[in-house]
Amino acid sequence: MDPMHRQGAGEARERLAALLQERLRDPATAQMIRRSLDAGVVMDTWLAGQREENFTPEALAVIEEAVGILTAQAYGSVFPNYHLSERYLTVAFHELLSSIAMFQAHREKGTLEVGEGEAAGAVERLRAFVAAEPTGLSVPVGLYWLVTSYENYGALAHYGRMPEEDFRFGTFHRPWIKSTLTEEMNLARLMGHLETRYPCPEGQCVILTPEGRRVLEQIRRLLEDSGELAWRMQQQHLALFNELEDYDELMARIAPTVNPETERFLDFAGLRPGQKVLELGCGTGRMTLNVGLYRRVLPGGRVVATDPSTNMLARAGSKARELGAANVEFLRSPAENLPFSDGAFDATVGMVFLHFTDAPRAVREAVRVTKPGGTVALGVAIRSDAAMMPVLPVWFEPIFALARSRGMAPTGVGNRPGEAAQLLREAGCVAVHTVPVQVPVVAVDPVSFVRWALQGPGFFQEVLEPLPYAERLRLVGELQEAGREICRRATLEERTWLWPGEYVRGSAPGPD
Ligand SMILES: C[S@@+](CC[C@H](N)C(=O)[O-])C[C@H]1O[C@@H](n2cnc3c(N)ncnc32)[C@H](O)[C@@H]1O
Repeated sequence: MDPMHRQGAGEARERLAALLQERLRDPATAQMIRRSLDAGVVMDTWLAGQREENFTPEALAVIEEAVGILTAQAYGSVFPNYHLSERYLTVAFHELLSSIAMFQAHREKGTLEVGEGEAAGAVERLRAFVAAEPTGLSVPVGLYWLVTSYENYGALAHYGRMPEEDFRFGTFHRPWIKSTLTEEMNLARLMGHLETRYPCPEGQCVILTPEGRRVLEQIRRLLEDSGELAWRMQQQHLALFNELEDYDELMARIAPTVNPETERFLDFAGLRPGQKVLELGCGTGRMTLNVGLYRRVLPGGRVVATDPSTNMLARAGSKARELGAANVEFLRSPAENLPFSDGAFDATVGMVFLHFTDAPRAVREAVRVTKPGGTVALGVAIRSDAAMMPVLPVWFEPIFALARSRGMAPTGVGNRPGEAAQLLREAGCVAVHTVPVQVPVVAVDPVSFVRWALQGPGFFQEVLEPLPYAERLRLVGELQEAGREICRRATLEERTWLWPGEYVRGSAPGPD
């Protein structure tokens, strides 16, 4: 018999609830989550949400074999005084390994397709991590417990109640799950976080208890403090860019003046022939190639263009080959951690990427790799609640309502006005100069605008983040549908948003 069933329910409930509270209150838990993130041992339900049949049969076989071994090792020994069921552990290790493998595929290849190599890599990564952790397998299982409770309870909090069958199959919040969430439901019910109510209109329904709501809030705070929620958001932005197949076309449609505007930015940056220039957040190489950054440094100069999105870079690379732009090198790197020595470049530039980064770190890195007296120039999107597209308050009301209900500022995407200049000064730059700009963004048609708004700049992603998976998809569909009528009736002017921005330039500090 399963040890869980041998334990008396009341006693087990107390032990488990005490264990959870201990975890939630112990500062070591946030550190443990940070260590897992650093080691790439991740439980990312958003990325997982984009998996369809993305695993090859060979990859699945590798994962299944490892799940069997890990479950046998973990059974009866993960938590002190409480035995998780074998079934719970099997699902947990399956989900964890899948998530780690997808994360790797996403980072290395820019796709979410997992082959045997990524699967074996995930198993190795988890084993190495666990071997270095004093409490071994209890760390990833604890991570799984916390993240999935956040997801499960969050969905219930959103819907109010859910038919038990839908909860068990994750219909609305984790539809990709191959097995069922029965064990997770049982565990939550045992702790008094969930209750099954019968009858309700849809049959037997699951609801979140007041205690469940309290725990959800505690977990949310822990995931926020540990950086897990911010990390998740960053992954989501990256996944969106990785999957934005037609970025250049979408930009040309939505922001028709963006290329001439970017030329003005390059004038502002004052680049000269012969210089060695670093570009950050280059994406598909729109500024690098289409707008001609690479030509500005000829003859003799060269450009190293970086971005963390493998897929965007792949597109940039093929454009460069077509153009014969031999003085450009594309390299995968986030702006916060650049693989270059101090002062390696004459100038460092970047366009509308800063708000996706940890801005203080990214600016410090940009200044570090620029030679003393060299230019650092940034094109920055500015977060502004004012002067938005006239039709947007009505069109995007479901999103604004959600934002209001959570006390969030609904419209901002971008950096604060003056933020980039301040960061440049803090990093030691002198002669910092800012020019305000406006770039018109037009809702030419509802489908491309909603895609751009939610996928391009990742606009509103923070508002969508706590929604269950199916709800996010439904909302995108609803916005596109509502936009049909709005785009038919409203004038082009009413569908135009003068997006505020800043061009900011400074000189990297000289030697003391
Ligand atoms: C709106 S696109 C801009 C691309 C390009 N600069 C342009 O103007 O067309 C934002 C880019 O920022 C990149 N990005 C996301 N996170 C980043 C990070 N941590 N460091 C640098 N770039 C990042 C995305 O991959 C994406 O290519």
